Amino acid sequence: MIQQSGLALCAVMLAVGVAEAQSPAPPPPWAYTVNPPPSPGAKPPPPDPAPQQVPGSTASLTVAQTRDAFNPPDWHPSAHPSMPEAVAHGRRPEMRACGFCHLVNGQGRPENASLAGLPAAYIVQQMADFKSGDRKSAEPRMGPPNAMIQDAKAANEEEIRTAAAYFASFPFKKWIRVVEAADVLKTRIAGSMHMPTGEGTEPLGQRIVEMPEDLRRTELRDAASGFVAYVPKGSVAKGESLVKTGGAGKTVACGTCHGPDLKGLGPVPPLAGRSPSYTVRQLFDLQQGVRKGPWSALMKSAVEKLTVDDMIAIAAYTASREP
Ligand code: HEC
Ligand code: HEC
Repeated sequence: MIQQSGLALCAVMLAVGVAEAQSPAPPPPWAYTVNPPPSPGAKPPPPDPAPQQVPGSTASLTVAQTRDAFNPPDWHPSAHPSMPEAVAHGRRPEMRACGFCHLVNGQGRPENASLAGLPAAYIVQQMADFKSGDRKSAEPRMGPPNAMIQDAKAANEEEIRTAAAYFASFPFKKWIRVVEAADVLKTRIAGSMHMPTGEGTEPLGQRIVEMPEDLRRTELRDAASGFVAYVPKGSVAKGESLVKTGGAGKTVACGTCHGPDLKGLGPVPPLAGRSPSYTVRQLFDLQQGVRKGPWSALMKSAVEKLTVDDMIAIAAYTASREP
């Protein structure tokens, strides 16, 4: 009798174990920002036709002009080298300008990636992975990664080479403020980004909520206006320990490959100062095996045992470092 129920319990545990292995963990929705479906019948208001300005720029552009994926706004042209065609304009009809999403200075936004200062060989490899299907998002409903895959499929060798050389030619500048907090402004997802609703605060919990420092300037694609990332209390120190020591076998020390200060090493990308939401998505995608390019195997022992809470701590720490 006892033996039988023990066996039955074993069978149940086995079944649960198998079920868990087969259904991957759900992607954390605060990192994989999916726009809510538009409410039926609601039409977005037409963009303000008045010319807009941003601090430190003499340019004057309408909102519609700032939303042109084949001619993204360049508010501060003297702040970056001259852009190749792929970055400044892309190619109609199918390849939007890299500078539209990643911003003309490659600083990037939480829903995409910073490209400034990435090794050129690394950029070229990632474009090949997006093209071949080796690099996808764990959340297929998130728009921007799908748009990236479309752009990579459309880009030719010359466009990839010139864009990679451009973004690799200047450093990424620190522009994300990492703040440990218990509470955070209430946000909603719009434009694949967290935006404050103006309805007060709520507990942060185990999340990272990254939002524009100045929503208006970010919406105008001002590449000089950065972000603030709210992270759980204690996460930066916990992340530092995981990154530096590997957390007693939970992961491996990252500096061996990403450089002692996480500023990158040879073709291995830098992590310091970059968007923590982006970093969590990549750790999760690598762990789930939807990012599986030829170089991804090197990340296996770093990600395989991480929980989402570990990823939060790691990303809070790496984002807080000087690039
Ligand atoms: C429509 C928006 C969009 C456009 C246009 C776009 N990208 Fe991206 N890109 C993204 C998103 C979103 C990601 C992050 C995907 C993810 O989360 O995995 C990304 C990621 C990348 C990465 C990976 C960065 C890393 O650190 O691994 C590279 C490289 C890249 N893009 C290069 C380019 C280049 C070059 C162009 C122009 C030819 C371009 N992108 C155009 C949205 C875009
Ligand atoms: C054995 C070398 C190695 C170690 C150790 C390592 N990484 Fe990596 N990491 C890589 C390589 C190579 C890539 C590029 C993977 C690819 O192309 O898919 C990468 C990619 C990444 C990315 C994606 C970067 C981007 O721009 O998209 C993140 C985030 C990352 N690693 C974080 C970490 C963290 C955190 C640790 C330590 C806990 C770590 N890595 C340890 C080699 C390593």
